[in-house]
Amino acid sequence: MQSWVDGQPADAVALKSRALAYGDGLFETIAVKAGQPLLLELHLQRLAHGCQRLAISADLPLVRSELCRYAALMGDGVLKLILARGDSQRGYAADPLATARRILQGSPPANYPQANAEQGIRLFPCRTRLAEQPLLAGLKHLNRLEQVLARSEWQDTEHAEGLMLDTSGRLVEGVYSNLFLVRDGVLLTPELSRCGVAGVMRAALLEAAANEGIALRVGDFVLQDLAQADEVFVCNSVYGIWPVRAFEALNWPAGPLTRKLQRIASVLLDA
Ligand SMILES: Cc1ncc(COP(=O)(O)O)c(C=O)c1O
Repeated sequence: MQSWVDGQPADAVALKSRALAYGDGLFETIAVKAGQPLLLELHLQRLAHGCQRLAISADLPLVRSELCRYAALMGDGVLKLILARGDSQRGYAADPLATARRILQGSPPANYPQANAEQGIRLFPCRTRLAEQPLLAGLKHLNRLEQVLARSEWQDTEHAEGLMLDTSGRLVEGVYSNLFLVRDGVLLTPELSRCGVAGVMRAALLEAAANEGIALRVGDFVLQDLAQADEVFVCNSVYGIWPVRAFEALNWPAGPLTRKLQRIASVLLDA
């Protein structure tokens, strides 16, 4: 589908875009079903929070209405919204009065193998580590070179995702997903105040777990915690939940808590 820039059909952005020069902006990747953007409120909340943290001035009500109009035309697919801080001349200094550009791109629905969700996936052990930067942690900002490097580490189809640690060896997330472990019936997920993207599906699952009375701990975990886990899964807002069945020599079943949350995620992604 034809992309839009600032509400107009367009195939290109200006060369002076700060998104191009510095990765100065934010993005959201949103599943669209029957013309509806799914988990919209959580996506918009993360975007608003990112704008506030990075002092990006954006017309968020306009972003919402434009995004909904675009999604309605898409039908089913994946919508990428890029919010690029306004244009600038040379140099890092940003024009405080510039309003963010809105870029919308629609793609067909993601067609991951059904087996990922049914039988589970094998995680690749990425050597690329995530740097700690609390000012950017949690945000879905446009600087994604760590993920680009990590994703270049494997080409085979045996691994559907990679596991990323931070430079201190803590578990953080997948290359394009968040990570959960289950141990003794308690749902565990890494805290993301130093690095990582605070996923929309992660937020939805944390809320669902609280509503279901599932014991939950958000904290620091290391590879040994992975070895001691009873269940492991990854999630994002496009595919929902994939059980992790293997990481190096470790193996897990797709356990009951993973399956329960997977059903909840499927409902959230089925408008
Ligand atoms: C680095 C990273 N972490 C986590 C996620 C999951 O985020 P969400 O649940 O918002 O899709 C993504 C999604 O693409 C990601 O790129």
